[in-house]
Amino acid sequence: MIPSSKIRLGINIDHIATMRNARGGDHPDPVAGARLAIESGADGITAHLREDRRHIRDADIERLQRLCETTDIPLNFEMAATDEMRDIAKRIKPHAACIVPERREERTTEGGLNVVGGHNQIAHIVRELTDAGCRVSLFIEAQETQIRASAEIGAAVVELHTGAYAHALADGNHERADEILAALQSGAKLAHSLGLEVHCGHGLTFDNVGAVAAIPEVMELNIGHFLMGEAMFMGLPAAMERMRAEIEKARP
Ligand code: PXP
Repeated sequence: MIPSSKIRLGINIDHIATMRNARGGDHPDPVAGARLAIESGADGITAHLREDRRHIRDADIERLQRLCETTDIPLNFEMAATDEMRDIAKRIKPHAACIVPERREERTTEGGLNVVGGHNQIAHIVRELTDAGCRVSLFIEAQETQIRASAEIGAAVVELHTGAYAHALADGNHERADEILAALQSGAKLAHSLGLEVHCGHGLTFDNVGAVAAIPEVMELNIGHFLMGEAMFMGLPAAMERMRAEIEKARP
């Protein structure tokens, strides 16, 4: 049975920090952005503390966790599968920890986690964070082997990477986009049948969110860069309202 029709909208606030860090000061404050997102109806806040601290800083994560605790909104802490990040997650105790691949030279999280190849290290971290009370999610491509490996090592959630879908559509390659969408659909079905909760994210926009939101097993979407870009023109509440409307059009 497919869970519920209401899809959660998680707001990724990393790029408020990107803009702040461009000038080295404290403005704009990603925690103020998270507060505004919550006041505007966000179901969760997502933040990625990268190894190089290029956007979110350690102090931001501490403040975000305090904000999320007091507002009773889940914090989804994105992290690489490293001992340093594991220790931070165990100390901060966010509601959820999403393990993502991380390479220093990449501009953003390109591609999903290799759960099959990194099985032992990832399994260990999943276990430790689950024991510490976090709901652990793995950010993977919609591939059968990765989904099965995620279930085997005890993850609660898989977040399916929608970046390739977004790129194919942006390039006008509709054939490729359809193939990737079909993989997302069958991947979501398989993950759900294995007892995993299914989230999706990366590269989602007003124009491409509909087909992803329409996948019935998808329970949560995590969206950042595009929404923050639109927020510069129309404000964050209006950008979130429009995104919500696009999602609800696809999943009434
Ligand atoms: N989900 C995960 C796991 C991510 O790593 C990211 C990007 O940091 C997102 C969602 C949001 O992607 P975007 O900023 O392209 O909306």
